[in-house]
Amino acid sequence: MVILGIETTCDETAAAVVERSESGRGRILSNVVLSQVDEHAAFGGVVPEIAARAHVETLDRVIGKAMKDAGRAFASLDGVAAAAGPGLIGGVIVGLTTAKAIALVNEKPLVAVNHLEAHALTARLTDGTLFPYCLFLASGGHTQIVAVRGVGDYIRLGSTMDDAIGEAYDKTGKLLGLGYPGGPRVEAEAARGNANRFALPRPMAGKPNADFSLSGLKTALRLEAEKIAPISEQDVRDLCASFQQAVVDVVADRLRVGLKLFRDRCGNPTALVAAGGVAANESIRKVLQRLAFEAGTELVVPPAALCTDNGAMIAWAGAERLALGLTDTLDTPPHARWPLADVAAPVDPYGRKPG
Ligand code: KG4
Ligand code: ZN
Repeated sequence: MVILGIETTCDETAAAVVERSESGRGRILSNVVLSQVDEHAAFGGVVPEIAARAHVETLDRVIGKAMKDAGRAFASLDGVAAAAGPGLIGGVIVGLTTAKAIALVNEKPLVAVNHLEAHALTARLTDGTLFPYCLFLASGGHTQIVAVRGVGDYIRLGSTMDDAIGEAYDKTGKLLGLGYPGGPRVEAEAARGNANRFALPRPMAGKPNADFSLSGLKTALRLEAEKIAPISEQDVRDLCASFQQAVVDVVADRLRVGLKLFRDRCGNPTALVAAGGVAANESIRKVLQRLAFEAGTELVVPPAALCTDNGAMIAWAGAERLALGLTDTLDTPPHARWPLADVAAPVDPYGRKPG
């Protein structure tokens, strides 16, 4: 089957066409991503109203290019998928409404995809990863450890109680005057800094649950920076390095617990899978590699362009759901909040519920 996927939940306007064979293999026929980073940079973060307007202005063109690159007409599609949340509601409405219009006019099934489910299933598109696997999702909006047991069958093992990891990087970048998005810039500065210079906390370390908390780390960093103000270039590098080391230590501690919780509930994972923009970070990848090795499993990190927000992951999740007969009606609502645990699962012929 061939599916069009539309992503507009944050600051990327994206559309892609993906094919799924009957055996479950995926092939990306086109993948168009238009980033709005420049429009938000001046504000040091995503401005919801600007994002929604930019989606309205560009989505038609982005979809047109995705269809053209794939060499497909709407009539030849098997379905239309859009991210129906969670995310910034203005953008979600734009993408979902557009998908509904295409589905209605062309008489195609609509699949309203949960954005987190799309991140969760990407490893099956890129690497054919089998269930069950342990997902570490770390982006600007989300930080979660999830047991992925099947399509629509997710257990959240841990999540952040305040800031997401990418958000903590972005706030650190902003505080140190590095611009937006902070993640790649903080990483670059950290590479030339001394990670032992500042003693920053490792929030939640040693706790028996697998939750994260990052706002205290950010505050501690601010206090250290204020203590030595005005800060030099080398101070910035050392602050970034110390911050990144603290994040890496927290990820190691929290994921170790997450993998243990996974084994207690689901047995051995087929893989540790990373998703989200933060997975682009070399130091974080290294620690994930170590954790996977310790846990006797393999690490799967999809290519960076598929870890960050994109249309291919929405199309793929749509295809996985459509293959199981999971479609949505044209009155399906957009969601600002939509926990993975609330995603509809396939109906079990024996009436059993996942869990
Ligand atoms: O998944 P993504 O593209 O968008 C969403 O937030 O959904 O992730 C973007 C986030 C930003 O917070 C960005 O700063 C962070 O991922 N990020 C990084 C790196 N590259 C991107 N964080 C740390 N190190 C990086 N190299
Ligand atoms: Zn995302």
